[in-house]
Amino acid sequence: MAHIPVLLKEAVDILDIKPSGTYLDMTLGGFGHGRAICERLNEDGRYIGLDLDDDAIKRAEALTGGLRCETRFVKSDYCDLDKVLDELDIGKIDGCLADLGLSSFQIDDPKRGFSYMEDGPLDMRMDPEGALTAETVVNTYSEEALRKLLSEYGEERYAASIARGIVRERARGRIDTTAKLVSVIENNIPASYRYRGGNASARTFQAVRIEVNGELVNLSGAIEKAASRLDHGGVIAVISFHSLEDRIVKKTFAGLTRVDDGDKNLPLPTDYVAPEYVPATRSPITPGDEEIAANPRSRSARLRAVRKK
Ligand SMILES: C[S@@+](CC[C@H](N)C(=O)[O-])C[C@H]1O[C@@H](n2cnc3c(N)ncnc32)[C@H](O)[C@@H]1O
Repeated sequence: MAHIPVLLKEAVDILDIKPSGTYLDMTLGGFGHGRAICERLNEDGRYIGLDLDDDAIKRAEALTGGLRCETRFVKSDYCDLDKVLDELDIGKIDGCLADLGLSSFQIDDPKRGFSYMEDGPLDMRMDPEGALTAETVVNTYSEEALRKLLSEYGEERYAASIARGIVRERARGRIDTTAKLVSVIENNIPASYRYRGGNASARTFQAVRIEVNGELVNLSGAIEKAASRLDHGGVIAVISFHSLEDRIVKKTFAGLTRVDDGDKNLPLPTDYVAPEYVPATRSPITPGDEEIAANPRSRSARLRAVRKK
């Protein structure tokens, strides 16, 4: 299935694109948002798209027809955005987008091991050259480490029971396919819980995937790095897909925009430094019913943005 960009108009509108500006896309994916950004740029405009996934880079390179701006697609972790921009001799940027998580190309390809709906190798790496696979996590982490992982990153109520089941099962033979992991999960949760609130495997798969790709560890730092590259008036917009991500985005943006002027009845202290950023969204922007009906994967999306003053 092709990737349908989520909150496309909202995300691109909030960036308030300057036709000759420089824009960083931290998560190139299917080049959906990216292409929409490029379409608003003229021949002086620049777009830099980053992705960990080689397939995303290759796909985007074939999709630049009709664009006037300069496009650069770079295989990189968004944590390394400073290095990428420095190498391209780019100082400030006029806007930045991060559309977190996975693309449909990744989810729908059973060979990538992200899907609990189809059998495939237990991989889950966004970067096919990454050192850690889901198979390693599932077969080598201790029962306690697995329980903690499923509980924290999957918010899984039956984390302890699933972790126990994984350890028991792997003593009999390696858990090396997605179908084997699904079967362990299903055998270690109550039948009544299996299909309540979506597929029961979704939470465990989410947790393992977050671990494999270090998805939450560097997010806040990467957002701060991107924000520090913004020129005056530039916006950073982030679309998150689950509460763990959204919490980090919200907290990071709150840190960037915090007004700490002490007692309102007293004059501002002489060393007072006003925040460099202001919120560009008061509350998160979410997809409407129409978008959710057309693209159910958009249902949990939340878009937040801040602007550099
Ligand atoms: C939801 S998709 C982006 C879709 C894109 N906005 C579009 O409209 O086609 C997220 C993409 O971010 C990439 N990604 C996730 N974490 C990353 C990271 N730390 N560094 C670079 N790319 C990352 C994934 O490989 C995936 O292709």
